Amino acid sequence: MARQCLGVLFSHPADFTPVCTTELGTVAKFKTEFDKRNVKVIALSVDPLSDHKNWIKDIEETQETTVNFPIIADENKNVASLYDMIHPNSLEKATVRSVFVIGPDKKIKLTLTYPASTGRNFYELIRVIDSLQLTANHQLATPANWEKGDDVVISPAVSDEDAANRFPGFRKVKPYLRLTKAPETK
Ligand code: BEZ
Repeated sequence: MARQCLGVLFSHPADFTPVCTTELGTVAKFKTEFDKRNVKVIALSVDPLSDHKNWIKDIEETQETTVNFPIIADENKNVASLYDMIHPNSLEKATVRSVFVIGPDKKIKLTLTYPASTGRNFYELIRVIDSLQLTANHQLATPANWEKGDDVVISPAVSDEDAANRFPGFRKVKPYLRLTKAPETK
């Protein structure tokens, strides 16, 4: 099954800050992982384009990578306001660490908000993307701490009879807890 195309929009509080520098460097290094999954990534802060351009040089120098994705310079806060990225009880001039995964239907599939003091776990983002793409075309879901290759859960909306046809050999632990091997995603 071909992977569904997804977009990731993520905001960082401000350019020239230490945690954000490591985050944007990490996203650049994850490019092949995003490409493999048919995912397009775009970053955002409310800093001007000239700051982005200068900061990119620092990211590339300190994180030993090439920034290979666009960064929105949302100086007038149009996007930040639409996506509620400016927390009313936080700095008015800084976006929080938001992440949105957006589907081909332009609907938001995931939102995450991290505190300014915590750099994001991009392995977790990849894990959720794998789960979203796996479950997009099947009535399946992924259990707690699921990793690629682990068994998946059959939706309660699928009858046992239907499950036997669609997921031969599925395991019925409880009437509402049925497990099966994950289908292949390319
Ligand atoms: C940082 O990216 O390092 C950072 C940004 C805002 C507040 C605290 C840390």
